[in-house]
Amino acid sequence: MTTMRSNRSIDGLMAELMALAQISEAEPPVVTRVVFSQADLRARSYVKRLCAEAGLAVREDAIGNTFARWEGSAPELAPIGTGSHIDAIPNAGLYDGCVGVLGGLEAIRVLQGLGFKPRRSIELVIFTAEEPTRFGIGCLGSRMMASVLEPARALALRDKQGQGLEELRQQAGFTGPLESVALSSGRFHQFVELHIEQGPLLEQEGVDLGLVTHIAAPASVRIVLEGEGGHAGGKLMPGRKDALTAAAELILALEAAAKSSGALDTVGTVGVCDVFPGAVNSIPSRVRLETDVRDTDGARRDHVLEILYAKCNEVAQRRGVAITTELVNADPPATCDPMILAAMEAAAVEAGRSYKRMVSRAYHDSLFMARIAPVAMLFIPCRGGVSHRPDEYASPEWIGSGVHVLARTLATLAS
Ligand code: GLV
Ligand code: MN
Ligand code: MN
Repeated sequence: MTTMRSNRSIDGLMAELMALAQISEAEPPVVTRVVFSQADLRARSYVKRLCAEAGLAVREDAIGNTFARWEGSAPELAPIGTGSHIDAIPNAGLYDGCVGVLGGLEAIRVLQGLGFKPRRSIELVIFTAEEPTRFGIGCLGSRMMASVLEPARALALRDKQGQGLEELRQQAGFTGPLESVALSSGRFHQFVELHIEQGPLLEQEGVDLGLVTHIAAPASVRIVLEGEGGHAGGKLMPGRKDALTAAAELILALEAAAKSSGALDTVGTVGVCDVFPGAVNSIPSRVRLETDVRDTDGARRDHVLEILYAKCNEVAQRRGVAITTELVNADPPATCDPMILAAMEAAAVEAGRSYKRMVSRAYHDSLFMARIAPVAMLFIPCRGGVSHRPDEYASPEWIGSGVHVLARTLATLAS
């Protein structure tokens, strides 16, 4: 494929990305697409229609992971996978995940347009619920594919309204046994995910592409603090058991622990703080925190968690507030496959694109695909490193170069 010259314009893909962004629970251009919401289901229909129009055979599993297959000349061989997710956190932009799904489809259409005939089949995968918004745990679909989340634990998951995963997936039309979601090692020969960087380095350094060598290790702990409520005027300060001021200590302790780890790779965030009863003249009696801690080094990440747990004990004793913690997930980091990286590097060179090897600090479905297949990721820049915000932006040129190099990589891997 050294002479690969597609005359497809990027305009079609950009129009599809914009059309997908219109399918949102929020007022576009703000994208909110929580798993199994009406917007998620409509977005899935849209993408499945595009896949069918490209002649791909579409299949869904029991949790809604979607596989769109371009049959190779040796269909008995394990396929090459590519893809990402189309769910979006509240108040998001339109590129996170969607570039890997619609860009992956575009890469397939580029190869089809060039008359390329893959030996191995190429499968575009749209993973269910990469975002943890609804069920509190990220990469639900890929986690189950890789048997990291057992069906029994998945069945116990509930959203904040108390609706269970089982009920919600059935309503969404995904009814098979959850046991059937797990895939064996070898089901995919290799897997490549195209994604925006979600950090500033490529843009700052003027580099076209990031070849991801490692994916940082994420962890999440849910913390519930039970204090004592009461009248904000009547109850004097001595002896109060305010759950929110106790939570504030934990929030600051997590920030300090992440900052003092000795490495910039350590990050700690409290992204959810639900206060009960949430009235200005009422002392908070219950607080629920959801924390997110990550590092490229799993042991260093775990050390931050230990500091957090120790602080929970200390604050509970000193303030007389009951604090319970639940470890939602603590996943090891992933290492990308040198052979796929070499194929991506050759593709970037042939396409005349600049590139650098880098670490992904965000997690991705590839973190779990790495448990069952060799994986690598291809990053494109995003403006200002901004992501998980409505002003997330990747230029048509950046997207075009990602798709082009992904197409070349898929051609190499599938040959
Ligand atoms: C994925 O969206 C992440 O939070 O890294
Ligand atoms: Mn995301
Ligand atoms: Mn993503």
